[in-house]
Amino acid sequence: MKVLVIGGGGREHAICSSVKKSKKVTKIFCAPGNAGTAGIAENVNISADDLEGLMNFAIDNAIDLTIVGPEAPLTAGIVDLFTENELKIFGPCEDAAQMEGSKIFTKNLLKKNNIPTAEFGEFDSEKPALEYINNNKKYPVVVKADGLAAGKGVIICQNQQEAISAVNDIMVKKEFGEAGSRIVIEEFLEGEEASILAFTDGETIIPLPPSQDHKRIFDNDEGPNTGGMGAYAPTPLIKPDMLEKIEKEILAATVNGLKREGITYRGILYAGLMITKDGPKVLEYNVRFGDPETQVVLPLIKSDIVDVFLACIEGKLNEIELEIHNKSAICVVMAAKGYPGAYEKGREIKGLDSFEGREDVMVFHAGTKKDGNKIVTSGGRVLALTAVDNTIDGAIKKVYDEIGKISFEGAQFRHDIGKRAGKY
Ligand code: AMP
Ligand code: GLY
Repeated sequence: MKVLVIGGGGREHAICSSVKKSKKVTKIFCAPGNAGTAGIAENVNISADDLEGLMNFAIDNAIDLTIVGPEAPLTAGIVDLFTENELKIFGPCEDAAQMEGSKIFTKNLLKKNNIPTAEFGEFDSEKPALEYINNNKKYPVVVKADGLAAGKGVIICQNQQEAISAVNDIMVKKEFGEAGSRIVIEEFLEGEEASILAFTDGETIIPLPPSQDHKRIFDNDEGPNTGGMGAYAPTPLIKPDMLEKIEKEILAATVNGLKREGITYRGILYAGLMITKDGPKVLEYNVRFGDPETQVVLPLIKSDIVDVFLACIEGKLNEIELEIHNKSAICVVMAAKGYPGAYEKGREIKGLDSFEGREDVMVFHAGTKKDGNKIVTSGGRVLALTAVDNTIDGAIKKVYDEIGKISFEGAQFRHDIGKRAGKY
């Protein structure tokens, strides 16, 4: 089989690595890929947003299976386009991808199906939003742009003044562009966050080991938010009985709710949850693999992942017995100096060779590219070192024992990834 992976981050490098383990696969392409994917796939210089270009490439190269990494092509309808052209593609159709593309769509679906989530109001103009804030007594409150805002359209407001400014920034100043022409204002939930990624074909749901992202740039969850500085799985925050409850009352309730709207969800359904004192509540849905959660959940899958992708597409997920290693995985992101603000590029990365061929410690590239014989930094999140071990403590020790082998000027990473596992 020939496989095309769309995207160019750490998540896509991890997807390519898992696909490569399949005996069915003879060739992998990655569009546009990075210096890491270049080692196991052929990088193709087509952007993840160029739907027509990707489709023509898939037709011309007789691609048997395409896997979509990022959300933008999904919300733009890449799955519908490929499917109309009889190409197999893993991911939800455009209607289903609204689950990430519109917070208002998701909040209403959750409410209609009694799925636990924060209380909210939805607004398409400033005046009623300000009235709602005027009547609101409880702070903090969360103001969110409805559409895709590259993970930035969420503002946590500590008081009325901040909430008024947030509405103004999003709806009047249009800081997130058209994504902010509608907004959600919602109750602030207290608790611990977890990510549940699940395979589904619209009928059967198979959750992957629960994980936790670490969004802030500095240790102890300090400093500004980032795309994610590290993750680990499975997290003991979600015990097996809670996972069962999440599967039934949240994931299945969502997939069935969508079905009643005439939408079959096929692909990865990623629930961002807050585990509150009243139980798990949905913060958001993403319609794709998480980054960096993918870098820790995929190495824990023992089964041939290509079989799972195909079963989701063909509506045969009930035939899959997903085998998971009884191990833990952790990944620590190394980021460029300045990230998440303006960051440096073009710094040579040294020490990558020492990880070649290893399965217990892997480097997943994100913002890297080849420059002659060198590999240099080309993004904010540069790479993630992932370690697998029998226990989370073992995995933590392994990753931090080895991370010093990789270096580039200005590299920054957190020293406490996975540490919070110890408190649950
Ligand atoms: P979202 O894109 O909706 O997941 O929001 C991004 C981040 O903002 C989440 O991962 C949470 O850390 C935080 N957040 C969003 N909504 C809430 C909420 N209702 N209560 C508390 N924190 C929230
Ligand atoms: N880990 C956050 C995300 O993938 O959106």
